Amino acid sequence: MSRPLTPADLAKQAAGRRAVDFVEPGMRVGLGTGSTAEWFVRALGEKVRAGDLARVVGVPTSIRTGKLAEAEGVKLTTLDEAGWLDLTVDGADEIDPELSLIKGGGGALLQEKIVATASDRMIVIADPSKQVQALGAFPLPIEIVPFGWETTKAIVERLLTEFEVAGRRATLRLDKDAPFLTDGGHMILDLHLGRIEKPKALAARLLAVPGVVETGLFINIADLAVIGHEDGETEIVTRAGA
Ligand code: 5RP
Repeated sequence: MSRPLTPADLAKQAAGRRAVDFVEPGMRVGLGTGSTAEWFVRALGEKVRAGDLARVVGVPTSIRTGKLAEAEGVKLTTLDEAGWLDLTVDGADEIDPELSLIKGGGGALLQEKIVATASDRMIVIADPSKQVQALGAFPLPIEIVPFGWETTKAIVERLLTEFEVAGRRATLRLDKDAPFLTDGGHMILDLHLGRIEKPKALAARLLAVPGVVETGLFINIADLAVIGHEDGETEIVTRAGA
């Protein structure tokens, strides 16, 4: 028996369902990862099965999302096959007023960023708890290569001293007792920063470290946010200049 939906589930469901209104027949759609993105995939599947969205194909950002999409009857392709996408819909861990995001709580940030930036439009879907005035309370995930990870961690902690952040601790993400590995075979460091004053500068500095593959800072990528509420209502927030 499935458990009853919590208020947060209902809000995520509302956001996911509303985002399907932006999908048109024939679109190539990036499918995000996480519990909110899963509501979108289920709602998309419903419409596809009802015959309302012919020729839509999805590009999943993780193995987990791909399995769900297949089970929901959404036709899948690869990013290479699609070449470019019309739209990507994904969740986030934090959303600031400029629609800058922290992503990667689910460990799929690299593939999520590749897919989102290869799309004409990215829509972020969330419940209101993800909206923040400044990014950083949620630990910032960065994807790193396993080779020399302890050295990479030390370099990252040292470079954080150049930034105005409330905390500077980096922790290796674990899956039970072993390092968590992404679909791409990378590790994740979670940076406990508290508050990030200059996200763009921090992202650039982190990316300059050779062992760092990508950061969970998504800046100027999301064009629009759909915020769902537990009563089923949704609100749309657009990025200035998007
Ligand atoms: C996965 C992500 C997710 O979108 C993010 O963690 C939000 O997840 P949820 O919708 O379950 O709260 O970035 O890498």
